[in-house]
Amino acid sequence: MENIAQSRRKFITTLTLASVSLGLLWRYLSPPAVSRRRVVARVPRTDIPAEGALVFLQERLALMREGDTIFALDLVCTHLGCTVTVTGSGLSCPCHGSRFDRQGRVLNGPADRPLGRLKVEEHDGMIEVVT
Ligand code: FES
Repeated sequence: MENIAQSRRKFITTLTLASVSLGLLWRYLSPPAVSRRRVVARVPRTDIPAEGALVFLQERLALMREGDTIFALDLVCTHLGCTVTVTGSGLSCPCHGSRFDRQGRVLNGPADRPLGRLKVEEHDGMIEVVT
């Protein structure tokens, strides 16, 4: 009877050690998680006009520059999703006439929320908009 209990204990211990070893081996051999970082626009900093904007129509975004500060605005109107256009004085929506300032804040509706901001990173003088 004692022999059966000992061999059962030995079997369970071996099984546990084998499971842990296989788990560690799997973790070591499996590839690292792929980054979900996606660059949607990439330009040299010098391409963005001072106090101006660089528009990426297909990506529906604009890189805005104010002094040394660069930020990206999502050009999808917060009213019903039309593409907002950049004008000399701000941004306006051709669909229902919402207007936004250069920071993306609503000047007049029907849109009631500011334009979205996108994440901007700078690497070696290159500006990247990432999602
Ligand atoms: S979709 Fe822009 S104001 Fe309506």
